[in-house]
Amino acid sequence: MLWKLLAAFLVVVTVIHTADCIKCHNCTSHTSTKCAKIDSGDTSTLIECGKPGAFCRKTVQTLVDSGETRITRHCGFIKFEKYDGDYCMTSNTNFKKELSCQCFTEACNGSNGVKAISALVLIIFAVVIR
Ligand SMILES: *[C@@H]1O[C@H](CO)[C@@H](O)[C@H](O)[C@H]1NC(C)=O
Ligand SMILES: *[C@@H]1O[C@H](CO)[C@@H](O)[C@H](O)[C@H]1NC(C)=O
Repeated sequence: MLWKLLAAFLVVVTVIHTADCIKCHNCTSHTSTKCAKIDSGDTSTLIECGKPGAFCRKTVQTLVDSGETRITRHCGFIKFEKYDGDYCMTSNTNFKKELSCQCFTEACNGSNGVKAISALVLIIFAVVIR
């Protein structure tokens, strides 16, 4: 019983912790060429989103006229309606094509350290609770 409580507590703490401390890349390929493709382990554009419930966004816009592609990464605070998990949406107009993604691990395809820790805790949780 005590173990179960402890495990549940750990899971809650981990979830809150990751939600609070998520970091996202904050950059745009317009001003920083490396924003287009960030090497794993490159933390120079990472910022703390610093708000509970924050997640990361990545937007890829292609201007129809010039064919120019702009990639923007930043913290997000308002989720897509109806979608809780990692998700991408496209929206196209005559002027631009846009792919907009939300993701709940660090950096939309950056380090996945946070996810690994949560997974570990969940496994421990599953084993203990049995
Ligand atoms: C995020 O990037 C924008 C534009 O590049 C910049 O103006 C802003 O200060 C950055 N935010 C933080 C928290 O560094
Ligand atoms: C990150 O992006 C690469 C290439 O864009 C892809 O192959 C890989 O599956 C992605 N990883 C994650 C965790 O999304």
